[in-house]
Amino acid sequence: MKRYALVTGGARGIGLAITRQLLKEGVGVSILGTSPQEKVAPVLKDLRTGQSPVLYFSGSLADRGDRERYVAGSVEAFGRIDILINNAGVAPKVRTDLLSMTEESFTQVLDINLKGMLFLTQSVARRMVGQEPVEGRRGVIVNVSSMSAYVSSVSRGEYCISKAGVSMVTALFADRLAEEGIGVFEVRPGIIATDMTAAVTEKYDRFFAESGQVPIARWGTPEDVAGAVSLLISDKLRYSTGDVLNVDGGYHIRRL
Ligand SMILES: NC(=O)c1ccc[n+]([C@@H]2O[C@H](COP(=O)([O-])OP(=O)(O)OC[C@H]3O[C@@H](n4cnc5c(N)ncnc54)[C@H](OP(=O)(O)O)[C@@H]3O)[C@@H](O)[C@H]2O)c1
Repeated sequence: MKRYALVTGGARGIGLAITRQLLKEGVGVSILGTSPQEKVAPVLKDLRTGQSPVLYFSGSLADRGDRERYVAGSVEAFGRIDILINNAGVAPKVRTDLLSMTEESFTQVLDINLKGMLFLTQSVARRMVGQEPVEGRRGVIVNVSSMSAYVSSVSRGEYCISKAGVSMVTALFADRLAEEGIGVFEVRPGIIATDMTAAVTEKYDRFFAESGQVPIARWGTPEDVAGAVSLLISDKLRYSTGDVLNVDGGYHIRRL
């Protein structure tokens, strides 16, 4: 049976690699992003060259109405939602020391990275609960957090706090949805080459070369993260939920 997925931020960066991976696996994909349709038209054209349908909704994860339109429109087109990939996220507009972090920046980052993904998850979970299970599962949800869920960066505290929150959202929904036949997982990327890290390329080039903290001492790629997502949504992990998969070159290992 064909499966259908929502991938937030699925037209760019890590999300685009996830979209491509899902399409390769025959999954239909519905994307949410703030970019207008015209801006993403070339990438959508490219994605639509295969067999699986690709929908795009322009709107913000932080906006309740936009989220509702996204979920309702996707269900109307696909009939069901088998997979939710909570990928969209933002860094603070300006990196500032924790002692000068503003409430405005905190609210902006938390509204997208945490509140938006939490209530999108709630909305999709309600739909999934009412669906007929396919091979014992009503759905699977994957949250893209970050090593910032546990690594302190005092120049972007709001981002770290938002990602630590995503980890608890994973645990809570994994707990609540197990009895509904829905698996919930977290992918925790390290340093991945995308627009988000483009402004700090030199810093991380040096980090990989000199710090000795990353056993696989190279930049991660969006495809590295997409591969992890592919594993988590497969039928290989039927007795697991709430697990975290680090995609960080082994950075989480403490080295002496
Ligand atoms: N790159 C890294 O090193 C790294 C490491 C760990 C975790 N992550 C996480 O991985 C995820 C993807 O990051 P990335 O590196 O691919 O970032 P990116 O290249 O900056 O892409 C961000 C994506 O999120 C979407 N987005 C941003 N704000 C949104 C909003 N309000 N509503 C809906 N969509 C929104 C963007 O689409 P529009 O531009 O159309 O809005 C874009 O598709 C994020 O959650 C990020 O925190 C990244």
